[in-house]
Amino acid sequence: MSVYLPVFHILVSVSVNMILELISFSGLFLGAVSSPSSPAPSSPPTASSVEGRCRIYNSGQSADCRGRQLDFVPWRQFPVTLESIDLSYNVLHAISAADFQNLPQLHTLLLQFNNISHIDNDAFKNNPLLEHLNIFNNSLQEIPASPLTSVLNLKYLDMSNNLYKHVTLADSFSKLVRLKALSMGGPLVMGLKKNDFHSLKNIELQSFAIKCSSNLSYYEPGSLEVIQTKQMRFDMAIDQRPNALHHILHDLSNKTLSLIQFRNLFEFTYYMGEEDIFLNLKYVRAFQLIFHRGKFNENLLRMALLNLQVTPIKWLRLQYIDFARSPTFVDNGAGSSITNLALDNLDLW
Ligand SMILES: *[C@@H]1O[C@H](CO)[C@@H](O)[C@H](O)[C@H]1NC(C)=O
Ligand SMILES: *[C@@H]1O[C@H](CO)[C@@H](O)[C@H](O)[C@H]1NC(C)=O
Ligand SMILES: *[C@@H]1O[C@H](CO)[C@@H](O)[C@H](O)[C@H]1NC(C)=O
Ligand SMILES: *[C@@H]1O[C@H](CO)[C@@H](O)[C@H](O)[C@H]1NC(C)=O
Repeated sequence: MSVYLPVFHILVSVSVNMILELISFSGLFLGAVSSPSSPAPSSPPTASSVEGRCRIYNSGQSADCRGRQLDFVPWRQFPVTLESIDLSYNVLHAISAADFQNLPQLHTLLLQFNNISHIDNDAFKNNPLLEHLNIFNNSLQEIPASPLTSVLNLKYLDMSNNLYKHVTLADSFSKLVRLKALSMGGPLVMGLKKNDFHSLKNIELQSFAIKCSSNLSYYEPGSLEVIQTKQMRFDMAIDQRPNALHHILHDLSNKTLSLIQFRNLFEFTYYMGEEDIFLNLKYVRAFQLIFHRGKFNENLLRMALLNLQVTPIKWLRLQYIDFARSPTFVDNGAGSSITNLALDNLDLW
């Protein structure tokens, strides 16, 4: 077994009895150092002296309007040659039909960290080349299906962290056949329904990310079954609905994934149930599994590792996890030990 420790990063090639030991050990100091602090969020740039003016560069192909306190899109400043515009970290509240109508070359539009609650249906009508649209962290109360699904070239769409309560995608999303990366959901999404992603069923994604409320209230079996993707990222806490994990993992079975990531799987409480909620991990084919933040006790970890023994998953990463012992855990010696786990990589950050 080899262990190295560059800045709290332990990489181990292991026999597994040592994992639990290592984890109790690392819980002592890694937990203390890393779990309370998330990676620092990138802070908005300070207001520029040329407030309101965008910087046009790259021979008129790019506009930098980031962090300028803009409450409307300054479209009169935009040369017709623009291909990429960064309007992030402003205070925009709406996108209107006029804003980008004279930009036939536009392919990248960054609108994250504004306060957008409305997008006109015709907002992107004259932007047939638009392929990268970021509206992360805005105030949309509905998924703006009409404007989004008129952009047939869309490849990267991040519309997560908005204020919509349901993630049901309109049928028209099936037109976005070039979509590669889709990120959606937000703090008010209480759960997933069986037909939410039906319109994606013929689209081959590279990456799919879903965020729900930290109080997940429902997960209808089959909700994620239709999604075809290489990478699947969850940001949903199942504290109130631990059994949802059964159905989630069942929906992932028979897919071939390169990565599955769970962020904050248990956000506020340690799982105290007896039932093995990782049972369906057995049927999941993936290259790498990442648990990012959240609470893991011994018992939950053991359930995960037990089932990992029989999966093709060979790379496990546990980062910024809050580990705890399970004081009531009784090792009855039968079936409780992990004797056959062979990982190529185990990362504990
Ligand atoms: C965002 O817009 C809403 C109205 O849509 C308003 O009530 C709220 O104060 C705005 N928030 C910020 C930070 O400007
Ligand atoms: C957007 O980001 C701010 C600052 O990080 C956060 O307070 C707010 O809750 C976020 N909005 C949504 C809808 O996630
Ligand atoms: C979580 O949501 C349920 C409804 O599904 C509600 O009864 C409960 O009070 C909520 N719990 C928390 C901690 O917000
Ligand atoms: C995966 O395949 C197994 C065996 O063919 C089947 O029992 C199971 O229901 C399938 N899972 C899904 C989600 O289709």
